[in-house]
Amino acid sequence: MYFRPISILSLAALAAAAPTCDRTLNSTVGLYTVQPNDTMTSISHTVSRGICDIARLNRMADAMLPLLTGEELLIPPETCTPDNSTCLILPNPTNTYSDCVAGGPHAYYTLEGDTIRYIALKLNITVEALSATAQGGVTDPDTPVQVDNFLKVPQCSPSRCTVEPLLFTYGTYKDLAEKSGTTVGQIMALNPTYNHTDAARGEGAVITLPGKCETLGGNGTVIS
Ligand SMILES: *[C@@H]1O[C@H](CO)[C@@H](O)[C@H](O)[C@H]1NC(C)=O
Ligand SMILES: *[C@@H]1O[C@H](CO)[C@@H](O)[C@H](O)[C@H]1NC(C)=O
Ligand SMILES: *[C@@H]1O[C@H](CO)[C@@H](O)[C@H](O)[C@H]1NC(C)=O
Ligand SMILES: *[C@@H]1O[C@H](CO)[C@@H](O)[C@H](O)[C@H]1NC(C)=O
Ligand SMILES: *[C@@H]1O[C@H](CO)[C@@H](O)[C@H](O)[C@H]1NC(C)=O
Ligand SMILES: *[C@@H]1O[C@H](CO)[C@@H](O)[C@H](O)[C@H]1NC(C)=O
Repeated sequence: MYFRPISILSLAALAAAAPTCDRTLNSTVGLYTVQPNDTMTSISHTVSRGICDIARLNRMADAMLPLLTGEELLIPPETCTPDNSTCLILPNPTNTYSDCVAGGPHAYYTLEGDTIRYIALKLNITVEALSATAQGGVTDPDTPVQVDNFLKVPQCSPSRCTVEPLLFTYGTYKDLAEKSGTTVGQIMALNPTYNHTDAARGEGAVITLPGKCETLGGNGTVIS
């Protein structure tokens, strides 16, 4: 059986998130070994936990990045309010997108599963703006891009961000981005080697967190 209970209840984040609920919740932290063809959606069904609750406990940059067969994921205790949605990076028809990234960085390192459309969404810029700077020209923004490759990103000029080191112990990049006034794509671009599978279980990993990204002055230009 690859879904076995372990006890790592010292995780402060779990204690802080302990819900009050009128039904009995399974408070055991489990360990699940990823099987071939597993996705976060299939695992969430198998273990009856929210996709985002699993992603946050495992410090996933993005819950939808492909999983590694054989990797072990912590399975969080049950909560009254399982979260299957708030960590997902989805387009919203009412959102507006910029034509450049405020601050930086200037290059984005491509991951498995990335497309121009998805990278643009993560950077909060238009598909057209990213297509214009991506090397080699982009014919179809929905084709998976070549993995492990730097893509040039359009930057707003003048603009800036602050950067600071952060011990990342719980959450997803979307949570961090919402708190720090930046985007998932910028955090990814600044941390191209971050991999939730590498850091020791129960400990955090240090990342570089951009924040307070802003354009300066009224008539900015786009540079690439
Ligand atoms: C409680 O969850 C653990 C994993 O976190 C699982 O192994 C166990 O079977 C669950 N217990 C019940 C009664 O569902
Ligand atoms: C995984 O998916 C592929 C393609 O759909 C299929 O050929 C293969 O049998 C699957 N493997 C397992 C272990 O389910
Ligand atoms: C959402 O979370 C619940 C946990 O209550 C889980 O059982 C279910 O399968 C999840 N749904 C999806 C679509 O992943
Ligand atoms: C995305 O860009 C638009 C237009 O510049 C801006 O209004 C919005 O706040 C940005 N959203 C995020 C999440 O950065
Ligand atoms: C994490 O590392 C594994 C093993 O080297 C690799 O297959 C996977 O693509 C990496 N994930 C990311 C997001 O870099
Ligand atoms: C922006 O450009 C317009 C038209 O070129 C100019 O009138 C205005 O003074 C500029 N504003 C700033 C802040 O540079």
